Amino acid sequence: MAAVKYELIKTCGQTGARLGRVHTPHGSFDTPAFMPVGTQATVKGMSPAELKDVEAQIILSNTYHLYMRPGSDIVREAGGLHGFMGWDRPILTDSGGFQVFSLGGMRSIKEEGVTFKSHIDGSSHFISPERAIEIQNDLGADIIMAFDECIPYPCDYNYAKNSLERTSRWAKRCRDVHSDTERQSLFGIVQGGTFKDLRVQSANELLELDFPGYAIGGLSVGEPAAEMYDMLDVTVPLLPGDKPRYLMGVGSPDYLIEGSIRGIDMFDCVLPTRIGRNGTVMTGAGRIIIRDAKYARDYSPMDPECDCYACKNFTRSYIRHLIKAGEVLGIRLTTWHNLRFLLNLMKNVREAISEDRLGDFRNKFFSAFG
Ligand code: GUN
Ligand code: ZN
Repeated sequence: MAAVKYELIKTCGQTGARLGRVHTPHGSFDTPAFMPVGTQATVKGMSPAELKDVEAQIILSNTYHLYMRPGSDIVREAGGLHGFMGWDRPILTDSGGFQVFSLGGMRSIKEEGVTFKSHIDGSSHFISPERAIEIQNDLGADIIMAFDECIPYPCDYNYAKNSLERTSRWAKRCRDVHSDTERQSLFGIVQGGTFKDLRVQSANELLELDFPGYAIGGLSVGEPAAEMYDMLDVTVPLLPGDKPRYLMGVGSPDYLIEGSIRGIDMFDCVLPTRIGRNGTVMTGAGRIIIRDAKYARDYSPMDPECDCYACKNFTRSYIRHLIKAGEVLGIRLTTWHNLRFLLNLMKNVREAISEDRLGDFRNKFFSAFG
């Protein structure tokens, strides 16, 4: 028995979207799902009780950061991430295969693994596929990810091909050392840049390894939206229908809806929390920058249609004041609202799938959101 099991509830009659549920050792979550990002074993500014208030069903954390600080042995001894951070619902950890390449400290990639510099103190470290699994075994998330290389955009064909082939060999090494498959499910990650044939090759190589779930990586790295959709259109149909499909690092409303329409079940992104911290808020009518002078005397909620704690109790004028005064409550409230906005969007997407009208929902959403 795998730790994670996908249950298909129904497919949208208007689009290819799937309504489902993923069962894990820490309970289930409804799909399509958005996973808030808790890089350092905390979703910045939000307590676990507050995450439940916005109806987060699963969160993501990062191998790379927790390996650096406090160290995965400390997290293991605390009872894994669930015990350490006081979150009793499902958790997914990313493998570090993205952070070592994106945080700028990367020194060399060899067949054996990656040598890189710490973003904290500049010290030198080495992560191999085996080490990435060992760390994730310590962290104890319900879903763990294979160690991969996420290449930049644009990237030349030969580099992308060699890289995906190494990512496939690394995926096999990850699978071979991950033993407790009843406690944690290991997902493979499809790479291949923006080349259709390479995406097909990557998917086929990973399918041979028979993972309990598949992610699509290396997207939303600066390529035009149309190229991302093309990659989803060639990749998703190759993936097994009875396993979850996860599009990594994607979380803008348009990508969430278009990804769902193309059969994606899981998404994660720092977008709602990151833009919240610099004072940007998503509403049904589009994004607003709450610091703007035009909100100084605006006594309406951030989003009149939102049911979150911040929108039910506070005005744009007050939140603008808090942020301008550097008060921590300001960015806590914008984060709270942005998370609720995306989690509620996914709830509406699931409802639209169940009523075979996700195409109509998309059109209506974008005529208002812009
Ligand atoms: N997060 C966003 N994109 C990626 C990716 O390609 N690989 C990994 N491991 N994490 C990601
Ligand atoms: Zn709100």
